[in-house]
Amino acid sequence: MSEFAEIILDGKSYQMPVVEGTENEKAIDISSLRAQSGYVTLDSGYKNTGATTSEITFLDGEQGILHYRGYPIEQLAEKSSFIEVAYLLIYGSLPTQQELDDFSNKIRLHTLVNEDMRKILDGFPSAAHPMGILSALISSLTAFYPESLNPNQSKDEVDLSIIRLMAKMPTIAAWSYKNSIGHPVNYPKNKLDYCSNFLHMMFAYPTEEYELNPVVVDALNKLLILHADHEQNCSTSTVRLVGSANASLYSSVSAGIGALWGPLHGGANQAVIEMLEQIKADGGDSKKFIAKAKDKDDPFRLMGFGHRVYKNFDPRARIIKKATDEVLTALGINDPILDIAKELEEAALNDSYFVERKLYPNVDFYSGIIYRAIGIPTDMFTVMFALGRLPGWIAQWKEMRENKEPIGRPRQIYTGETKRDYVPVEKR
Ligand code: CMC
Repeated sequence: MSEFAEIILDGKSYQMPVVEGTENEKAIDISSLRAQSGYVTLDSGYKNTGATTSEITFLDGEQGILHYRGYPIEQLAEKSSFIEVAYLLIYGSLPTQQELDDFSNKIRLHTLVNEDMRKILDGFPSAAHPMGILSALISSLTAFYPESLNPNQSKDEVDLSIIRLMAKMPTIAAWSYKNSIGHPVNYPKNKLDYCSNFLHMMFAYPTEEYELNPVVVDALNKLLILHADHEQNCSTSTVRLVGSANASLYSSVSAGIGALWGPLHGGANQAVIEMLEQIKADGGDSKKFIAKAKDKDDPFRLMGFGHRVYKNFDPRARIIKKATDEVLTALGINDPILDIAKELEEAALNDSYFVERKLYPNVDFYSGIIYRAIGIPTDMFTVMFALGRLPGWIAQWKEMRENKEPIGRPRQIYTGETKRDYVPVEKR
């Protein structure tokens, strides 16, 4: 491999170092290009730009490979627990039993949120989307823990902020749902594991215990693992960018939640179910919707299809598709939109438009069907994604801080008016 790339500009040659990752990914380090030549690089949407080096997640979109800290997603989804994966992502290695117990116990100790947060929650109309509530309440943690604003916190203090966030996110997420249906909130039950506790807070009533079904708990565990990190995607890049200004962990994650909410990112899981419902209500003709997705004059896109990085089957989608069948069978649910989803997938995978553009089902295509089967309402789907992505955001924020990365600040090429003189309003 050459150690330098040569860039020739205005007849002058510049040598830029080549960087190679542990999985042989290669990059040209252009960080000195502007200082040397006056040129910047331009890459709208960062389609070809590496914003950082990272040791957390490896993703090969051509081959459909996803590893967290070197461990294949298939093995983690099959054998691990969400809390174990969270530890792995945040601290870099699989925990010993002692480390896992300590981590889980610390999280259990911090699941309650300050009662004053309920007053903030009460101020939201019941029609408020739970993602808006989640983002606002996570940001408001800075008010309850102002010490988290100190960019020079010690390692132990940072760890406490991390534990608090991991612990309180499920409580806040479940409360945002209770708010949307006008029901009283449930307090956490700390004898329960992470996923079971969340389900209890979501579904128990003051008059009725929620009976935990192991199939549902396992399905949730798997879904959260599959969403736990995905390297430098839109919301994670947002978390790192906000954090690079020395903003607190809570503010950075709150911003990430805002990014995840968009229907081209995490909001796609809600959009998929709405699309499948629309197809069902329209008579179930998937071919008609495939044609709409291909029509450049029609804004309709096949939600849950395509990915910026995967140009092969999204490995998470493969696992979720199998899990969807298993969960629905175990729960005895026959959901007609699963049939529509399978028909749509089949039609798209055999259609040259999708084949040529390498558009395959992504993680969001089937996840909503499982969420629905385990009783999660549609507008909570993206909240579920956020709950899963939280350890990834934390790990990426922590890595960025520990690497002392500089503040993120892209350049631009200005294409507006050149200098002109101000004209008073009466003369315009
Ligand atoms: N339906 C129809 N056509 C599509 C779709 C789709 N879902 N996705 C991409 N295309 C077409 C697009 O029109 C373009 O065609 P052409 O080359 O003729 O102009 C080509 O494929 C490339 O698309 P792009 O928009 O340039 O690709 P991108 O990398 O900028 O966008 C994407 C990636 C995920 C935003 C896009 O595929 C999309 O909008 N998918 C639907 C939304 C979705 O499912 N998002 C969830 C992503 S997975 C969860 C996550 O990690 O966020």
